[in-house]
Amino acid sequence: MILPIIGYGHPTLRKVAQPIDKSYPNLKELVANMYETMYAADGVGLAAPQVDLSIRVVVIGFRPYDEKTDTYGEIAEQHTLINPEIVEFRGEKKFFNEGCLSVPDIHEDVLRPESVVVRYYDEDWNEHTDVAEGLYARVVQHEVDHLDGKVFTDHLSNLRRTMLKRKLNDIASGKVPTRYRMKVFHRK
Ligand code: NI
Repeated sequence: MILPIIGYGHPTLRKVAQPIDKSYPNLKELVANMYETMYAADGVGLAAPQVDLSIRVVVIGFRPYDEKTDTYGEIAEQHTLINPEIVEFRGEKKFFNEGCLSVPDIHEDVLRPESVVVRYYDEDWNEHTDVAEGLYARVVQHEVDHLDGKVFTDHLSNLRRTMLKRKLNDIASGKVPTRYRMKVFHRK
């Protein structure tokens, strides 16, 4: 089932998400829905707060993209991260152009370490410690930020954020169209 994604300005994106334990109901169903939602929106990562659930669950997945036919190949790599913890940052900091399903139409270069060691549980509660590099390391850091109530634009300079302010306000008020379903927060 495809879940609606919440956009910039929704308060759930600013909360520190809670860890879960084995008693969390229907975890596998949630994880399957998160993958379906992410792939349908052409994303490479999705954190539970983005579907309005303030818990520490992340899905990450990569598929090769064929520009000529505008289609995706088989899933090449996918990781479910429950209660992930970045235990070490490694290497140099590098710029990489990031986007976010909750911040549509904005792509900005963000400086982050090129590698991280991340510890997490998968949906079967097996523990993993991965040395993440390349795109995987980038997406892990972006998604763990979501669990801590941060979005990628928080990493930009004040000047850059000021320049994006109107666009961010437009996203918050639901004025930016998306190909996927977005839920707008209405202040009472
Ligand atoms: Ni994001």
